[in-house]
Amino acid sequence: MPGTTAEAFRVEGARALVTGASRGIGRAVALALADAGADLALSARSEEALKDTAAEVARRGRTAVPAPGDFARPAAAGAVVDEAAEALGGLDIVVHNAGILPGGPDGAPQLTPHQYARQDDWDAVVTVNLNASAALCRHAHPHLAASSRASLVLMSSVAGVVGTPMMEAYAATKAAQISLARSLAVGWAREGIRVNALCPGWTRTDMTTFASGTAPLSDWLMAHVPLGRWAEPEEAAWAALYLASPAAAFLTGQALLLDGGLSVPDGGLAGIPKPASPFGEA
Ligand SMILES: NC(=O)c1ccc[n+]([C@@H]2O[C@H](COP(=O)([O-])OP(=O)(O)OC[C@H]3O[C@@H](n4cnc5c(N)ncnc54)[C@H](OP(=O)(O)O)[C@@H]3O)[C@@H](O)[C@H]2O)c1
Repeated sequence: MPGTTAEAFRVEGARALVTGASRGIGRAVALALADAGADLALSARSEEALKDTAAEVARRGRTAVPAPGDFARPAAAGAVVDEAAEALGGLDIVVHNAGILPGGPDGAPQLTPHQYARQDDWDAVVTVNLNASAALCRHAHPHLAASSRASLVLMSSVAGVVGTPMMEAYAATKAAQISLARSLAVGWAREGIRVNALCPGWTRTDMTTFASGTAPLSDWLMAHVPLGRWAEPEEAAWAALYLASPAAAFLTGQALLLDGGLSVPDGGLAGIPKPASPFGEA
């Protein structure tokens, strides 16, 4: 039990794997964990961007080693976990954050009603968002079981709780991550492994530039967020740090919504004047 409140929010000397750490929320998670005292293994496809995150971690006085991998490949999760655990000498914290939205022809994320969506896109999202999560959890288990302060955080989404049209594959995989977290939380509780899902709402990253960078769409989306604004990646990172820290030592099997109130029934709709829908009248 930490002696002070400040200590409760620190993860001094913890060995942490963060996936999707090259940019966006994952990079912010890595830096927040480093600020709180963790040493890190950083995963993503882009080795150059991982080096940049690692340099930022080093500037904060902590160690960071790259553990690159492409979660579109079935063997990647095991290889990433092995590399991370070997480099750090074990694992206490895993924040599995890498994830994708289906892309358009230019590779940028794209919203498509399910009836027009391609099966290939569905398969790609399930492979990266869900299959890799399941494999990563399985491979991380022995390392976390050997730790006295194990915490596993799956980066889900509010979409996994409320469902989101035009993002059906994404929302389904994010719901499955919550279910996986809840099942593992119970299954692994007596081994001292806490498992939680973090469910951000609309957060300003590369994944959402297609929406945040387009005023009519951004205004329309934010009109449905009671707090009326985009979240910044650091806000999700601080919630992930909380879930990983001793401050959350009695918290497991939960889906923590960090969505500006979006998921509150009717909270985003009641009494808020909205601009016209860019999708036309429903
Ligand atoms: N932004 C939001 O509004 C929002 C809301 C709720 C939940 N989330 C979730 O938060 C997580 C991070 O999202 P973000 O907004 O930070 O997105 P982002 O800026 O697009 O970053 C995605 C991260 O995942 C990595 N990644 C993507 N495909 C990968 C693959 N095949 N193999 C390995 N790594 C891969 C990317 O690195 P490389 O490209 O270098 O591989 C990058 O580090 C995702 O799980 C997302 O679903 C985001």
